[in-house]
Amino acid sequence: MAAIINDAAELGLMLHKSPGHLYENLRQFHVALDPVTHRVVATGGLSIIWANLSEIVALAVSADQRGKGLGRRLVEACVQDARELGIRQVMSLTYEQVFFERLGFSVVDRQQLPMKVWADCIHCPKNAACDEIAMIRVLDDVPDVGAPKPGAGGVALPVLAGGRGPS
Ligand SMILES: CC(C)(COP(=O)(O)OP(=O)(O)OC[C@H]1O[C@@H](n2cnc3c(N)ncnc32)[C@H](O)[C@@H]1OP(=O)(O)O)[C@@H](O)C(=O)NCCC(=O)NCCS
Repeated sequence: MAAIINDAAELGLMLHKSPGHLYENLRQFHVALDPVTHRVVATGGLSIIWANLSEIVALAVSADQRGKGLGRRLVEACVQDARELGIRQVMSLTYEQVFFERLGFSVVDRQQLPMKVWADCIHCPKNAACDEIAMIRVLDDVPDVGAPKPGAGGVALPVLAGGRGPS
């Protein structure tokens, strides 16, 4: 996985990922295996940003395996993860606008994704100089639970026995 991702990163197409980062986040990834050698030939994962926002991360197909539908299958697997988790929006920061448009994503202003900017972009070496295109796919069959309703107040917490409740 690291070799495929970091080969693409060397070309400036995505950010590098360390083996440590990949182990730490391994459960968010899908991979495609070569049926003969059983080596990983494509990888991509879904990272949760917020209750209503997730992100396709580290999507890369080996250079000799591109154009065979593996990228599409990995994105659709990540979108299905978002659906099963009840996360309505899936985003990507990418240079591959046409590829993501084919998969139902649309270009948005990055500033429309404040949770992503606050959580990740401020730590990114590109940050203010980021030239990646922000794209989003809204899953119409998933209810929007992330946006607080006007006047709804906070979440009611149970009062603990013998106390005044959580502080
Ligand atoms: C972008 C990438 C993941 C696409 O994977 P892939 O397996 O080659 O793509 P697919 O074969 O699944 O293509 C799906 C569709 O997108 C189209 N497509 C794929 N790459 C495209 C490109 N660079 N430009 C235009 N269309 C493209 C295909 O023609 C296909 O269209 P169709 O099935 O609707 O006719 C792959 O090229 C890659 O790993 N690139 C380097 C790393 C990278 O840029 N990752 C994206 C980081 S967000």
